This record gives sequence, C-alpha cells and structure tokens, in this order.
Amino acid sequence: MEDKFATGHSHGKIILMGEHAVVYGEPSIALPFPAVDMTATVKGTTGGLLIDCSYYQGIATDMPEVLHSLKKAIQTALSSLGKPNQNIRIKIESSIPPERGMGSSAAVAVAVTRAIYRYYGKELSHEKLLELVDVAERVAHGNPSGLDAVTTSGDSPVFYRKGEPFVPFQLKMDAYLIVGDTGVTGQTREAVQSIADRIENGEQSRTLQQIRALGDLAEKAKSFLEHNKPESLGHVMGDAHELLRELGVSSSDLNRLVDAAKQAGALGAKLTGGGRGGCMIALSATKEDAEKVSAALEKAGAVHTWITHLRQEEQE
Ligand code: PMV
Repeated sequence: MEDKFATGHSHGKIILMGEHAVVYGEPSIALPFPAVDMTATVKGTTGGLLIDCSYYQGIATDMPEVLHSLKKAIQTALSSLGKPNQNIRIKIESSIPPERGMGSSAAVAVAVTRAIYRYYGKELSHEKLLELVDVAERVAHGNPSGLDAVTTSGDSPVFYRKGEPFVPFQLKMDAYLIVGDTGVTGQTREAVQSIADRIENGEQSRTLQQIRALGDLAEKAKSFLEHNKPESLGHVMGDAHELLRELGVSSSDLNRLVDAAKQAGALGAKLTGGGRGGCMIALSATKEDAEKVSAALEKAGAVHTWITHLRQEEQE
C-alpha cells in the first residue's frame, strides 16, 4: 500500500488580451503556458493527511492561511470520492511563480485533484475536474470566471466572454511569446477596484470607452492568431498596453519592461493579467529575435523570462 503513488499535472496560463475589460463583458484571450508547470504526487503513508510543498510540510489541518485554497482543493476532491480522512502524503512541485497572473492557484487545484483521482483509480472527466477546481478557486478569488481552471488544465487557447461558454480555438501563429516577470507581486484585486472607482467617480464615459476599445482589440487579436499575422498582433498588443496604462493598472516596472522589449525589436508588448506588478508579455517573429528581447528584459530588471513558441501542434 505504501509504495502506491499517483501524479497529476497542470501548467501555467497567460492572458494575451482583454484583461480588465473582461470584467465588463468584453472578450478576452488566454493561453495555456506550459513553460511553467506543476506536479502533485499522492502516496500512501501513516499518520494522516500530510502536505509537502515549498511553503509548508506537515499535517493538512495545520496548513497556513495562505494555502487555504489548496486545502479546499484537497478536501473537495477527497469528499467527492467519499474519502474525507485518508493516510496520504501530497507532494507539490511547482515552477509557476505565485501571484504573477500565471494561474498558480487554479493550477495547484488541477494537479492535486488529478493526482487524488488517479491515486484512487477513479475516472475524472474534464467537466468534473473544472467543477471541483471551481470550489477551491472560489476560496482563492471569490468569484472566479473559470478561465484559469480551463487554461491551466487544457491545451487550447480560449476566447472568453463573461456569461458565455469558453471557446477553444486553434493557434495558427508562427511567432514567439516572451514573458517577463517584474518580480513584484501582482495586485489584481486593487487594480480591478481602481477601474471600478474611475467609473464611479466621474470618468465613466471615457473609462467605458477605453474598456470597449480593449474588447475590440481582443476580437482583432483572435483573428490575427488564427490567420498567422504576428505583426498585426504585436500592434494590437501595444495598443492594449497603452489603454491599460491610461486606465492606471500598469506600473513603472511593467512600463520599463514593455519599453525595453519594444526597443529590442519586439513586434509588440503589454502587461498581462491584473497588473500593478506581475508579468508582461512581448511578441517576436523568430526565436533569435525572442532571445534578444528576453536578454533586454533581463537587463531592464526582469527577475525571470520565458520564451514559448506560439504555434499549437495540430490535433490528431
Ligand atoms: O492576474 P490574473 O491572471 O488573475 O488576471 C486578472 C484578470 C482581470 O481581468 C484583471 C480580473 C478578472 O477577474 O478577470
């Protein structure tokens, strides 16, 4: 029994376009980001339910408050199997930086749920996985759209508009996405609130206009992604960054990295996710160009950069 083990995987996600505007019903595009990933391993043990991750090693009941959504994910998966009190050890290994808009809270819930189901030899449909992860994401984010759960567990880019089903689509783009981490924790909640405050406090029509413009850019971006138009995509990414900056959700660190990427020849660059910290993204046509951008980002202070080829492998 003690030798038995099972693993579950997930990866990061990146919002390509439409962050913030999506809160107001505009479309957004999110991509799976497999350059960072997560593995959960479940093993039999004695002495109760044990957790082993970089933040905490010990019994699950004593997990610190910062891990409350992980705790909820484990409880939810075990309860759904009718196995609330188990002697298992759950180990989590992650290269997804937390609180950078890469979906780490959804990713850990996905990996843990998959590992627990596999350990007990139970089938887990994608639909059921999303339903279970949503319970943990409610603890982490209050009212999650579900976009993080879909993109950290799946392989397709997703077009999403609030209240409508997620629309997976095929990337036909032959280009490279570079991600730069400011090293500063993102401030999604505050940034979302600051836009709501602008609308409340007299800047309603201008703010709503900027939000609509962001939605239009996301629509255009989808078409560019499907028709292999990297230069046009770079252009709308740059326009989106300007709008997000005007809306007050960028930061001096993000602006510095965006400028550095552009100066190094990127086709476009913008912040990604909630902003006020976290990560930015840039686009290059070739691997060589992407490496130049990545080096420029590091020189400008990025604590980490990743490069990923955007073209999706054709599905069988
Ligand atoms: O930073 P992230 O990846 O959690 O993205 C936040 C996206 C927002 O549009 C700013 C907020 C939201 O709830 O959609």
